[in-house]
Amino acid sequence: MKLADARKRARELRKTIDEHNHRYYVLNQPIITDFEFDLLLNELQALEKKFPQLVTPDSPTMRVGSDLTAEFLQSEHSWPMLSLGNTYSIEEVTEFGARVSRTLGYEPQYVCELKYDGVSISLTYENGLLVRAVTRGDGTVGDDVTVNVRTIRSIPVRVSGTGIPASFAVRGEIYLPRKGFEEMNAARQALGEPLFANPRNAAAGTLKLLDPRMVASRPLDCFLYYLLGKELPADNHYDNIMAARSWGFRTPDIIQLCGGMDEVISFLRLWEDERKRLPYDTDGVVIKVNSLAAQGILGVTAKSPRWAIAFKYAAEQAVTRLLSVDFQVGRTGNVTPVANLEPVLLAGTTVKRASLHNSDQIELLGLHYGDSVTVEKGGEIIPKIVGVDTFSRLPGSEAVIFPQECPECGTPLVRNEGEANHYCPDYLHCPPQITGRIIHFVSRKAMDIDGLGEETVELLYRSGLVRNMADLYYLKHEQLASLDRLGDKSASNILAELNSSLSAPWHRKLFALGIRHVGETVARVLASGFTDIDALMKATDEELTDLPEIGPRISASVREYFADPDNIETISRLRAAGMRFGGAIQRAASGGPLEGKRVVISGTFKNFTRDQLKEAVEAAGGKISSSVSGNTSFIIAGSDMGPAKRAKATDLGVPLVSEDEFLKMVEE
Ligand code: IVH
Repeated sequence: MKLADARKRARELRKTIDEHNHRYYVLNQPIITDFEFDLLLNELQALEKKFPQLVTPDSPTMRVGSDLTAEFLQSEHSWPMLSLGNTYSIEEVTEFGARVSRTLGYEPQYVCELKYDGVSISLTYENGLLVRAVTRGDGTVGDDVTVNVRTIRSIPVRVSGTGIPASFAVRGEIYLPRKGFEEMNAARQALGEPLFANPRNAAAGTLKLLDPRMVASRPLDCFLYYLLGKELPADNHYDNIMAARSWGFRTPDIIQLCGGMDEVISFLRLWEDERKRLPYDTDGVVIKVNSLAAQGILGVTAKSPRWAIAFKYAAEQAVTRLLSVDFQVGRTGNVTPVANLEPVLLAGTTVKRASLHNSDQIELLGLHYGDSVTVEKGGEIIPKIVGVDTFSRLPGSEAVIFPQECPECGTPLVRNEGEANHYCPDYLHCPPQITGRIIHFVSRKAMDIDGLGEETVELLYRSGLVRNMADLYYLKHEQLASLDRLGDKSASNILAELNSSLSAPWHRKLFALGIRHVGETVARVLASGFTDIDALMKATDEELTDLPEIGPRISASVREYFADPDNIETISRLRAAGMRFGGAIQRAASGGPLEGKRVVISGTFKNFTRDQLKEAVEAAGGKISSSVSGNTSFIIAGSDMGPAKRAKATDLGVPLVSEDEFLKMVEE
């Protein structure tokens, strides 16, 4: 390659890498995989090595990515926060070992830990107290996120034990367990908010929230894997980690002291598959020289220590064919492209569909129908298309083009400035938006109409019986019973459930309306701030934002909702059907005696209606389930509890509790 060409390519690479860095560290919205990113960085590194005159002081090879944001105070790290050299090949790990042995003159002990896929954090403790938590930032200066980090339960605000230095730093990775991530995305989906691509982005996004109460509501966790200070308890990494563990830190649970490189390689092989069974994401193994003295001899480069290396497992991939693309319209009108693939086996499951994210992603890939594509399952639950084989493309195949009109109702799509998604603005007439709102309305955490599933709602809509959530309350028995798949009995059940839902708590009704950004928690806050919907409708911006957790975004959305005459009409028809929007709200959804318990109510009772019991369970922090499963904590059993339920409870070992026993539980 000629110097002029190299200069041109280096410039392109720097621009691309900077863009991806920004997407990854600042926006938390990467559009390429770590592997692809590393390929770009490696190419640039190789060019700069060959033509050193091309190295610029601000080249991305010279620094680690920056996650600095404007809203947090900045704080300088006492020791720079370096990153790690990384590799995907076992040979390179062996070469790393050979280099280390050559420098030291002997083969040292190594420590292997998993490489957690989260956000790195540096915690400073003084006299046993957590005084500061700072993100990596640019490696020298990071964001002070102490208030947010204090909400993470596994991070001690005070440590105790022997050998604790007066002042020290401990570094680690904040992450979101997979289950917490899935629950969080499900809640966001119900709210029509954009989903996080993977747990790492969700953790990063959460850590940078400006309201620590929001942070506290998300199940962040943390592993601490690096102790720094002037008077450390031991002269080696492994013992320092064990000391840190004894002081109360959550340190890597999978950690192995290895006698040499052979043991390191066995660890890499063992954990390649084992790690998939862990409840959190890992993307490799970090290999560290154990002795601190040896670490000192090996030293550091500008970017990373010479005494450690990260080995990354390549995400599992498979090659298949793109058959077609669906453009799905969600409850809030967001249009999501989903690829239909020729079924292919990937990481133990058959993959038929893959997410394409948005129009930018389609364009970036340059997809054509019939293309041979590479799918990958990384940290994500849904596989994604990461590459296209353009050489094997059949002549005349058509490019995949993002529609300009809503595939469901034909309305021209809108893309807001700065947003990646297209959406259909005609929420009043676009069918999936209508049914989506009704499905949300009847869902378990909203009005909880058990007999009305997604399919039944769609059936009701298609048959012209329901155009709006209020229509549900005007349905006649014969209309329901005459529908396909519904009989007399289901029709009566549905009507009974609809009828009893009229007395559901006020905050649930508010949540059920499906106001943008008003999730369960926000609905509770609003319902306790305003005794009824008339007060809420009249609320000013100031009155709204005076409430905890309500910022300008939610306030604007609430006001916009009530400014729309169609919404007002829906509410007045619901009221005419007997729904009252108001009432006192029981606080203490958390910390109550039934916190974390799942309760089933079955049969009829002497002193209470089922709804009253339901409210009592919820007020005590418990959750109501409609059917008995292994997760059920207990059943409140009335006089005529069905024999099938009773048998199932015995089978699963779920205890039965009488009305009186239950009262004692909640009184306690
Ligand atoms: S040690 C100077 N140990 O990976 C070495 N890092 O690509 C300090 N990471 O910046 C890092 N798991 O954010 C270390 N067990 C582990 C790790 C780990 C994840 C992250 C960390 C680091 C990045 C480097």
